[in-house]
Amino acid sequence: MKIEEYRTAFLTYLKRDISAKEPRNLYNPINYIMTLGGKRMRPVLVLIGCHLFSDEFEKAMEAAMSVEMFHNFTLIHDDIMDSAGLRRGKETVHKKWNLNTGILSGDALMIMSNQRLEAYEGPIFKSLITLYNKTALEVCEGQQLDIDFEGKTDVKLEEYIKMISFKTAVLVGAALKMGSIIGQADHKDQQRVYDFGLNLGIAFQLQDDFLDTYGGEDFGKRIGGDILEGKKTFLYIKALEASNEDDKNKLLSLYEPASDQRNKIKDVKSIFNKYNVDKMLLEKIEAYTKAALSDIDGLSIALEKKKLLKEFALNLMKRTT
Ligand code: IPE
Ligand code: IPE
Ligand code: MG
Ligand code: MG
Ligand code: MG
Repeated sequence: MKIEEYRTAFLTYLKRDISAKEPRNLYNPINYIMTLGGKRMRPVLVLIGCHLFSDEFEKAMEAAMSVEMFHNFTLIHDDIMDSAGLRRGKETVHKKWNLNTGILSGDALMIMSNQRLEAYEGPIFKSLITLYNKTALEVCEGQQLDIDFEGKTDVKLEEYIKMISFKTAVLVGAALKMGSIIGQADHKDQQRVYDFGLNLGIAFQLQDDFLDTYGGEDFGKRIGGDILEGKKTFLYIKALEASNEDDKNKLLSLYEPASDQRNKIKDVKSIFNKYNVDKMLLEKIEAYTKAALSDIDGLSIALEKKKLLKEFALNLMKRTT
């Protein structure tokens, strides 16, 4: 099967599942975010993770729903935390409705995500819920670090990599591993697909940070949003490291919360560009993608299936949304 076919199968399953429920102000925002589009990369990885080890992938559909719902829950709350007004080219939930709606619909969506795992039984259920809960807590830890770093100027590269591993990559790893658990892979292979997902997830978040500054209109989020929010990304850390005294002070003062915001994006970008940190970032994305690709080798699956994972990783590097 092709990657696109997994996506189509998931979307068909999702559509059948969406219905209007009361109270409308709780469930409409959930239906809104769940049908707003998006790449559906995590549910596709759950289905593929299962299909690598089992003849049928449909039994992973509820887990795929669970992971996509969890992802969308994190987006509702993330957009509140990041003061973001635009998501997938449309208004964010708290902007379209209000803050309280964003908080409560997000909470409900997380619980609904959890409910999806009730479809599984016995040792499979036990493994899934353990991994799910561990991952969900790690995402919270990563999100907290992300917010803590806004108030720091001296974030180290390792700290940043740990932060993005937690807020983003662990869920990518968990998506694959949940699929592999349902497909009844042995523990070694479960770990291997998790490691692949972790490296891929790090590359993915690095690229999200790249696109946040250098992306086009189709990215669907406000370009420069990370700069405005004072996010400590790879670009910022490397620029600070490479800058001469003058540019270093300029960059630091631009990131001060009270600084004049009018030309902030443009001024910060010109320092990024001067020190070629955009190119350094693209190299880093490639390095993590390569690390992910080498994790595929050890898997005890057919060559055709290895190729599917490889294609997935390479496609992701070419994304613009
Ligand atoms: C956005 O994830 C949040 C990050 C972890 C960067 P995606 O880029 O997968 O968002 P959608 O679901 O495709 O919109
Ligand atoms: C998102 O990181 C991570 C989670 C949602 C857990 P970002 O804040 O960079 O994601 P976007 O750019 O808003 O999608
Ligand atoms: Mg955000
Ligand atoms: Mg964020
Ligand atoms: Mg981002």
